[in-house]
Amino acid sequence: MLFLIFLILAIIIFNLLFKETRWDWNKINLDSITFPKSFIWGTATASHQVEGNCKNNWSEFEKGFKNNGKPNIKDAQISGLACDHWQRYKSDIELIKSIGVKHYRFSLEWSKIEPELGVFNDEALNHYSDVIDELLKNNIEPVITLHHFSHPIWFDKLGAFEKEKNISHLVSFCDKVFSHYSNRVKYWCTINEPGVVAIQGYFTGMFPPGEKNGQKAGEVYKNLLESHVQIYKSLKKLPNGNSVKIGIVKNINQFDPWNRYNIFDWLFTFAMNHVFNWAPINFFKTGKLKFRVPGLIWNSHINKDAVKSLDFFGLNYYSHNHIRFNPFSKDYSDLMYKKNDIMTDMPYTIYAEGIYRAIKLVSKLNLPIIITENGVADKEDSIRSEYIKKYLFAVSKSIKDGYNVVGYYYWSLMDNFEWAFGYDMRFGLFEVDFENQKRTLKKGAKAYINIIKTQSNE
Ligand code: GAL
Repeated sequence: MLFLIFLILAIIIFNLLFKETRWDWNKINLDSITFPKSFIWGTATASHQVEGNCKNNWSEFEKGFKNNGKPNIKDAQISGLACDHWQRYKSDIELIKSIGVKHYRFSLEWSKIEPELGVFNDEALNHYSDVIDELLKNNIEPVITLHHFSHPIWFDKLGAFEKEKNISHLVSFCDKVFSHYSNRVKYWCTINEPGVVAIQGYFTGMFPPGEKNGQKAGEVYKNLLESHVQIYKSLKKLPNGNSVKIGIVKNINQFDPWNRYNIFDWLFTFAMNHVFNWAPINFFKTGKLKFRVPGLIWNSHINKDAVKSLDFFGLNYYSHNHIRFNPFSKDYSDLMYKKNDIMTDMPYTIYAEGIYRAIKLVSKLNLPIIITENGVADKEDSIRSEYIKKYLFAVSKSIKDGYNVVGYYYWSLMDNFEWAFGYDMRFGLFEVDFENQKRTLKKGAKAYINIIKTQSNE
């Protein structure tokens, strides 16, 4: 009884002290956002989402169905030709140039470069070499992602990241491409969103291989983080290793309790924040990885090399969710939304305070931070402009408050294949008509272009 009273009092005091961060947007002038002149503006894509004709773990998954008979991808859509970026990269680079950004983050499609284990395709290697040259010719810095969700089918057949010994295959691939491009490419991102690959692939089953096995999710998560460390070490030993910047790309998936007076909502929120955000950050801080959610994800791993394995932190930020614990729902929780929140087309709201909180969290690592992805799915293009201004206000505020954020890449250059949601989610600065591949600048994108224009040197 005494314990219960203590607990209730503790929750009340805690809530009085710590409120969910909410700014009064009526008092904020979104037209007076300022950034340092050196700030890097960019945009991003990923191979499987834009290139077309990929044969990899995702293209296989796109053909499949879940146990309940529903297709793996919404309405059984397939990536297919995507944005045909493989053929159209030159005109797409003109689009990149036209919006005034100076960095383009894109990923290499491992399955095209190494279609069979140890067999490298020169045409694909030359293709990316041409992309890099074309970017440089246009004064745009290429930023390469080495693994962005997709990998070759042969790698999947070997068990992909379920087995620690498979990491060496990814490292060999990275060594190979690094030796080709590192004389021209200064920024390298190793793994995109390890937590998403592990949890969506092995816990919710929304991503390939579509499994629901918490133990495996923990193992895969650990192996992805470990892959980063091994890739970093290997690339640093190669020519140009010391002159390039290598980082991981990690999304901060933010969770707050739905009911701040409900201990179960708090506990589940802690568990989610722990798995998605705190444990991996702690790994880079201490070299110790500990997942501690009994029955769901339980794993521990030590690699002291993790501590000095980042030249920058690539922060992706999209989502803030309120969690209501529900033992009867399939993921043990319900995602909840506040009445006045503005929804995007994805199951997230506009909550720009969240990117500030995420920056604050990852700044514990004392590294330069690049916002490697942030953007909005907005088919009607009715909230994009507001979204961009609010999130950039939050980023600019973080810089004024002393956080070391050096760049921002809007996701995405153009509408593309949004994984399990197919082509329904429209993140692009440019609208793509998938019937004829026509690209059209969206009205909402102008907010980004204007901010870049007023804040850049030239
Ligand atoms: C990220 C992912 C991107 C893109 C984005 C929008 O998780 O890295 O490829 O899909 O989400 O939802």
